[in-house]
Amino acid sequence: MLVSAKEMLQKAKAGKYAVGAFNINNLEWAKAILLTAEELKSPVILAVSEGAGKYMCGYKTVVGMVNGMLEELKITVPVALHLDHGSYEGAKACIEAGFSSIMFDGSHFDIEENVAKTKELVGICAEKGMSIEAEVGSIGGEEDGVIGAGEVADPNECKMIADLGVTMLAAGIGNIHGKYPANWAGLSFETLDAIQQLTGDMPLVLHGGTGIPTDMIKKAISLGVAKINVNTECQLSFAAATREYIEAGKDQQGKGFDPRKLLAPGTDAIKATVKEKMEIFGSVGKAE
Ligand code: 13P
Repeated sequence: MLVSAKEMLQKAKAGKYAVGAFNINNLEWAKAILLTAEELKSPVILAVSEGAGKYMCGYKTVVGMVNGMLEELKITVPVALHLDHGSYEGAKACIEAGFSSIMFDGSHFDIEENVAKTKELVGICAEKGMSIEAEVGSIGGEEDGVIGAGEVADPNECKMIADLGVTMLAAGIGNIHGKYPANWAGLSFETLDAIQQLTGDMPLVLHGGTGIPTDMIKKAISLGVAKINVNTECQLSFAAATREYIEAGKDQQGKGFDPRKLLAPGTDAIKATVKEKMEIFGSVGKAE
């Protein structure tokens, strides 16, 4: 059964490790991540962006697929199904469809509107026993080929949003989605420290987990990060392994064109990436 991310993240924050939130795109992604979490006895969050939700035919399809997998793959570790960067409408649709967690990304609204909408969704999630993530200070990333620097959140605004009763809080600390540019300034630990001082036990969320050096990840965890989002890195591993298979001409040997064969190396590559991340985040064995 899907669970809220609340308990797993509170445990992670108290135990100084982080739970990985891995974005899924299809059956192979979900299966690879769930099997790895089970094998490593790690709690896990399956994240679904609105675009990926659409791609997978809608949120109800996602809920049906993931619930079926939990049962038929006999998954025993805690699993949350989480909307990533949800709009207000998307958040409501996921609550309706049976997700166990949502992120409402109101970071592009002014703080008053972010507060009002977050507050309403916090109330609905509390009633349903779901977790909710809010964001302050938007996460940068590639837009039309231009890579923007990550915005740095105002710790006082973080405190204001945390006090609304959200389960976890994403705060921009110079992190960005996708690959980091060579001249990236790194994470602002000063900001993270100030945010944690004001928000106390609140589990903090680090977006843009792809490509952040291990020492920075560990430092971020030591300063209160308990959920780390990883998306691009699984995509890169999947693409590289699939390319290798095709370039070696394996799809043209025997039944190598069978999608169950053709997608296997990519699926295994996602597993390896997820394993590596869970080891770095320290979540291995935490579901035992
Ligand atoms: P990356 O694609 O950089 O790993 O970021 C993932 C993320 O933060 C999803 O919300």
